[in-house]
Amino acid sequence: MGCSPLLALAFALAATPPLPATSTARGGRVVQQGPTFSVGHPPPAAQSLADIDVLPDGRGLPPGRGTAAEGKTVYASRCASCHGATGREGPNDVLAGGQGTLASARPVRTVGSYWPYATSLWDYINRAMPFAQPRSLTADQVYAVTAYILHLNGIIGEADVLSAETLPRVRMPNRDGFIPDGRPHENLPRR
Ligand code: HEC
Repeated sequence: MGCSPLLALAFALAATPPLPATSTARGGRVVQQGPTFSVGHPPPAAQSLADIDVLPDGRGLPPGRGTAAEGKTVYASRCASCHGATGREGPNDVLAGGQGTLASARPVRTVGSYWPYATSLWDYINRAMPFAQPRSLTADQVYAVTAYILHLNGIIGEADVLSAETLPRVRMPNRDGFIPDGRPHENLPRR
C-alpha cells in the first residue's frame, strides 16, 4: 500500500537539505535567513570592520594621538569651509561657543555647550565628517581635530594630548545637563 500523495509531499519537504547562503529558494525567492547573516556566530571580518562605536567611557577608541595645535591644520583644510574659521560662523552647524545659553530664550547648542561626552565627538567625526568624505581621516587626524574643537570651546589647552587614555577623562561642561529618562519603557536594561 503506497502512502497518500499529501504525505509523500510532506516527506519530500522534510528531506530537502538546507539551502546554501547564496542560493535562491523555490520560485526564485532569495533566502532571507541562514548563514548569510551568521545568526548565532561571531561576525565575519567584513562585518567587524563596520563596528566603529566609541562608548562614553572610551571603549572602542583606537590607538593614536593628537593635539589642538596639530588639529588646526586639519580643521582649516577639511572643516572650515562648512563650519567657519573659528567654528562659530557656519554656514553649517556651529561647533563652538554657546556655553551658558541653554536655559536662555535663544539657546545655542554646540559641542561645547551641549554635548555631554568628548568621546562622542571623536566617534561622530570619525564616522561622519568631513560631510562629503566620511571615514577619510586617520585616527591621529581625528584625535587632533577633536582636540582643536575642544580647544576652540575652551575645554582643553592647545598642547594637551588626546589619546584613548586621555580623551575619556575630558569633562564636558554640560556633562550633568542630561537626566535619566524616568519613563518605564525607557529604562529597560541595555543589552
Ligand atoms: C561639506 C560641508 C562640511 C564639511 C567639509 C564638514 N562638515 Fe561637519 N557638518 C556638516 C553638516 C551639514 C553637519 C550636520 C549634519 C547633520 O545634522 O546630519 C555637520 C555636523 C558636524 C558636527 C555635529 C555638530 C552638532 O552639534 O550636531 C560636527 C562635530 C562636525 N560636523 C565636525 C566636522 C569636522 C571636524 C569636519 C572636518 C574634519 C567637518 N565637520 C567637515 C557639514 C560639513
